Amino acid sequence: MKHYIRFPRAEGTHSRQAHADLPAGTFEREMSKDGFFGPAAHFHHKHAPTGWARFTGALNPHAYDLNRLPPAGNSPWDATLFMHNGDTRIRYWRAERAMDHLVRNQDGDELLFIHEGAGDLFCDWGHLSYRDGDYIVVPRGGMWRIEPSAPTTMLLIECTEGTFTLPEKGLVGAHAIFDPAMLDVPAMDERFRAQQTDDPWSIVVKRIGALSTIDYPFNPLDAVGWHGDLCVVRLNVRDIRPLMSHRFHLPPSAHTTFVGRNFIVCTFVPRPIESDPGALKVPFYHNNDDYDEVIFYHRGDFFSRDNIKPGMVTFHPCGFTHGPHPKAFKAGAAHARKETDEYAVMIDARYPLRVAELPDGVENHDYVDSWKPKPA
Ligand SMILES: [Fe+2]
Repeated sequence: MKHYIRFPRAEGTHSRQAHADLPAGTFEREMSKDGFFGPAAHFHHKHAPTGWARFTGALNPHAYDLNRLPPAGNSPWDATLFMHNGDTRIRYWRAERAMDHLVRNQDGDELLFIHEGAGDLFCDWGHLSYRDGDYIVVPRGGMWRIEPSAPTTMLLIECTEGTFTLPEKGLVGAHAIFDPAMLDVPAMDERFRAQQTDDPWSIVVKRIGALSTIDYPFNPLDAVGWHGDLCVVRLNVRDIRPLMSHRFHLPPSAHTTFVGRNFIVCTFVPRPIESDPGALKVPFYHNNDDYDEVIFYHRGDFFSRDNIKPGMVTFHPCGFTHGPHPKAFKAGAAHARKETDEYAVMIDARYPLRVAELPDGVENHDYVDSWKPKPA
C-alpha cells in the first residue's frame, strides 16, 4: 500500500465530480499517478490542451499502419517486432499456411490476439480452434503451432520474464467483464490424436532472444492426457461485457483484460455512450503521466480518433497530452452518438517502449497534426 501525499483541495472555478458537470466552455485535463489509479488533479482549461500550433521534439505521438508491413515468413519468430521494452515485445504476424515446426517461448508468456483469419492451434494441451477477435494465452514453455484455414493476422504480445494474470475486479466481483468460466481450453480430441505421427518435427525455442532448434523423429505433441491448473486459454472479445456507467466516463483501466509484468492489456468493445447530460462523452484529456500507451485498432469506427482504420496502431508516449480529436469532441458534446462500435486492444506500459525500425510508408508522420481543427 502506497502512502501518497494525498489530500483533495480545489481552487477557482471547478466541478466537484471528475469527468462531469464541467464549468461551461472548459476542457478538462487529468494529470494522475499510476495510470488513473493514484492521486490526480483535474484542470479546467479555457482551450483544448491539444490545441498546439507546433510540436517539435521527441515526445510526439506516432501512428502506424501495420497493413503496410511486408509479409514475413511462416514462423512466429519471423513476425515483425514493432515495439518493445524490458517487459514486453509486441510483434505483428501474417500466417498464410500451416506452420511446419513447433515453437516454444522460454522468455515469457505469449498472448496471441487474432486480428483476422481462422484456423486451428495445436499445443501441449491439445487442439483449439481460433477465429478473429480471439485472445489466446500460451504459458511460457508451452509448445504450439497453427494451421490457418484462412490467412491469419495476429499480434503477439510477450510478457518477458513474467506471467499474464487476470485483473483485480474489486467491487464488481469475479464474474464481471467476463466470467472466468468463459475461458476456453484445448481438447485432446480426434484432430489432436490424428497429428500424433512418427514424422520428423522440430521445435524452435526462443530463450534470451536467441533461437535453438530441437529435432525429433516424431511429433512431440504426443500427450495422451494432462492435469493441473496451467493451461492455454482462449477468450473472444465478443464475450467481454464492458464496465460502463451512464453517468461517468470510466478510465481506460476499467477495460483491463490481462495484466503483465509492468504493463496491462485492455480491450475496448462496443458500449453505450454516457447518457447523463453532465457526463463527459469522450475520453478526457490527459498525459498518462506514468505509462506509454499503445492502441491497436481491430474493428469498427474508433470513436475518439479520426482517420484510424483496422490494423493501425497509435503510440502515445508517457507525458504526451492527448484526448479526443476535434470531430469526436464535437460529436460527444452534441450527443450525436449513442453507442460505440469499436474493438481495440490497448497496451499500457509502465516503462518506456522503443519503436523498431519500420519500412517507409508504415508511419503516418502527420499524426501529430491530427488534433488541429479542420477548416469547416
Ligand atoms: Fe490515453
